Amino acid sequence: MPLLPRVLAFVLAACAAVAQAFSHAEDAKSAPIGVFDSGLGGLTVLERLLDVDQADNATGLYGPDGVPDLARESFVYLGDQANMPYGDYSAEGKSDYLRELILKDAKFLLATNFYRSAEERVPGGRKRRVKIIVIACNTATAWGLADVRRHLESVGDGTKVVGVIEAGVRATLDQILGASAGGARKGVSPFAVGVMATPGTIASGAYARTIRAELAARGVTAEVPVLNQGCAGLADAVETGSPDADAIASSNLVALVERHRDSGSKVPIRAIILGCTHYPFVLGALNRTLAELRAKGAPLSEDFRFVDPAYYTAAECHRILRESGRLSATAQRDASMAFLSVANPELPAACLTADGQLTRAFKYGRSVGSDAVTTKPVPFTRARFGDEVFANIGRLLPRTAALLSRQP
Ligand code: DGL
Repeated sequence: MPLLPRVLAFVLAACAAVAQAFSHAEDAKSAPIGVFDSGLGGLTVLERLLDVDQADNATGLYGPDGVPDLARESFVYLGDQANMPYGDYSAEGKSDYLRELILKDAKFLLATNFYRSAEERVPGGRKRRVKIIVIACNTATAWGLADVRRHLESVGDGTKVVGVIEAGVRATLDQILGASAGGARKGVSPFAVGVMATPGTIASGAYARTIRAELAARGVTAEVPVLNQGCAGLADAVETGSPDADAIASSNLVALVERHRDSGSKVPIRAIILGCTHYPFVLGALNRTLAELRAKGAPLSEDFRFVDPAYYTAAECHRILRESGRLSATAQRDASMAFLSVANPELPAACLTADGQLTRAFKYGRSVGSDAVTTKPVPFTRARFGDEVFANIGRLLPRTAALLSRQP
C-alpha cells in the first residue's frame, strides 16, 4: 500500500479504537457486562452471573448476604450459533479462522450498533458498549483469550476479559486441596482429574497446561494424571435439543473412566471438569452414569464431583469489576439484551442449507482476512427455539429464562 493511504488507514484505525473506549468513568460503571459463547451453552455461565453471591453488597466485604452480587448489572449476551460448533474448527485445520471469529465476538460486544434483522445491510440498531467481557465458552477461551486480551489492551481503557478455563481449574483444585493461599497440601493422597470438553478445547492443551501450572503454583509436586475426553458432537446435540445428547454424554464419561481403569492406574478420579459450557445441560445423565460406574467399582473417589467452572467465572467477573471501580450503582437488569448469529441470507444458495444455515463445507471452508459478511448477530427471539430447548433453559436456568423472555 502506498504511504498516504497507509497513514490514513492507520489514523482511521486509531480513531475507531478511541471511539470504542470509555471516555468517562461513570459510563464504564453503568455499562453492561458482555458475555459470549458459540451458542446457548454460555447461558449456564450467565445464570451464575445472575445469582453469584460471594460478597455483602452493602459493605463489599467477603461473605454472602442473600442478594446477588451483580443484581444491579445489565448484560449483553451473544451466542455465535451460525458459526458453531467452535469445537470442530481445529480438526478442520481452521484454528486461525476460529480465532478471527472469537475476536469478532468480542468486537461485537464492544460496538454500539447491531443488525436488527438478518436482511438489514447496515447495522441500524443501537446498543451499549460493554465494560467487561466474559468468554463463556471453553473453546473460545482456549483459542482466543490471549487475542481478546491483546485487543482490549490496544483500546487501553482498562476493559478486562475473563475466561472459563482458569476458573474451572481453580475451582477444582480449591475443592480438592482447599482454598487457602499457597494451597500446598502435604500428604494429599494421589488423585486424578478428568476433563470433558470439545475436541477443539482438548486439542489446544489448555486445560492440561493450566492444571499443571496451577498445581505448581500451589506447590504440588506429585504427578496428577489429567484424563482428557474430547466429546465429539455433544455440544451440538445439546444446542439443537437432540434426544441423543444424554447418550453421547454418558458414553464419553464411560470412555474416560474405563480408559483410566484400563491403564492399570489405581489413582482415584476426584473430579471431572465440565470443560464445555453446554455440558451442565446433561448433568443429570452424567450423574446417573456415574452411579452405575461406581456400582461396578470404577476408580472414583468417595468425594468425587463434577466441576462446573461457571460459578468461579462469575465470582472472578465480580471481583474484577469491584477492584476496578466498575460495579454499577443503579438497578438495570431489564436493560439486558441477547443476540444470536444467523447466516447472511444473501449468500449464494450453495452456501446455505434448506433451512438457511451455513452448510458444513462452507462453514469450515472459510479463510481469515475476508471482509465478506457471512453471518450476522441479530436480536434473540424465542421463535428460534424448539419448545424442548426453551423448556430446558427454563428448568435449569430460571433467571436466564426470565431475562430472555423479557427480550422484545
Ligand atoms: N460451549 C462451548 C465450550 O464451552 C463449545 C461449543 C462448540 O463446540 O461450539 O467449549
